[in-house]
Amino acid sequence: MARLVKHTEKGPYKLQAGEETYFICQCGLSKNKPFCDGSHKRAKDEEEGKLYIYDEKGRIEI
Ligand code: FES
Repeated sequence: MARLVKHTEKGPYKLQAGEETYFICQCGLSKNKPFCDGSHKRAKDEEEGKLYIYDEKGRIEI
């Protein structure tokens, strides 16, 4: 079974909790959710108005 989920953010949300700072994934590509692992760099060159599908093999532009 597959599910498509739309993400439009290209970077993490910075969450300050007391003395601690967390970076929460908003791009949907992190392998360490809910935390950012830097995978959002793969989405850096996405163009507005285009749709991209990511999987373990890479990225497809539609
Ligand atoms: S925001 Fe998703 S990996 Fe960084």
